[in-house]
Amino acid sequence: MKVSVIGAGNVGATCAEYIALNHIASEVVILDIKENYAEGKALDLMQTATLNGFNTRIVGSTNDYSKTANSKAVVITSGIPRKPGMTREELIGINAGIVKTVTDNVLKHSPDAIIIVVSNPMDTMTYLALKESKLPKNRIIGMGGILDSARFKYYLSMALNAPASDINGVVIGGHGDTTMIPLTRLATNTGVPVSQFIDAQTLKKVAADTMVGGATLTGMLGTSAWYAPGAAVAALVNSIINDQKKSFPCCVYLDGEYGQKDICLGVPVVVGKNGWESIVDYKLSAEEQAAFNKSADAVRSMNSVLNEMK
Ligand code: LAC
Repeated sequence: MKVSVIGAGNVGATCAEYIALNHIASEVVILDIKENYAEGKALDLMQTATLNGFNTRIVGSTNDYSKTANSKAVVITSGIPRKPGMTREELIGINAGIVKTVTDNVLKHSPDAIIIVVSNPMDTMTYLALKESKLPKNRIIGMGGILDSARFKYYLSMALNAPASDINGVVIGGHGDTTMIPLTRLATNTGVPVSQFIDAQTLKKVAADTMVGGATLTGMLGTSAWYAPGAAVAALVNSIINDQKKSFPCCVYLDGEYGQKDICLGVPVVVGKNGWESIVDYKLSAEEQAAFNKSADAVRSMNSVLNEMK
């Protein structure tokens, strides 16, 4: 099965690499507007195939969307990434135009694809891709909550001095430094609430570190992170291609669920061959619901910028 990744930057190339390393798809096409750039990344990656033992064919393309034809899933990473000190929201003007053009081109050649949006500000770009494409809502998935949850579990594992694989935790809401909501109340270590092992102050610090997880890395690296974002996309693609029906927090269109309408925001969803197939209804506390509503207000005001741009 074929997967295409639009944008051969750090996130796009890493995502292609993880898809190959994990034997998720038979072919990955990476496409970029920069002449020969995707071809170069594909060539370099293909030369790791015998060393790493994968059979996925990785193909590069300079803006030729016909190479992406009939992809089962398409990942959109195009756009400019954050520089240190920038918020994801500051990217809206430039990235909106790019995401719109890319979505149109993708659908010309893969009309049945499931689309995963990574470009920032991701919640707004997911909403834009959905509105522009007029696709059924289940076929557009924004990648944010799954990455933020991975970072949350990492910080929890550090605070608990426990292996990350024993930790469970979910981040919902927007994929922004102030809009995401790490659900500390529901986080567990080997199935036991983490509040039994760490005090409230430590848990607060874990949540705060999670929320600025991406910004911390941007400050250290000089650009957006790529390993965890690439791995998060690969996990989503795996659940789609292999119809795993795994539950991940993702940015999806809400039509009354979690008390919100006409917005794309992070909630737990089941991901399978049809895209996001259902929304998992957690019972939020009043405080969590209030935080979710506040997050929705912030994302909605960003979405309104799209209308002003028209
Ligand atoms: C991050 C980018 C991908 O959080 O939004 O690292």
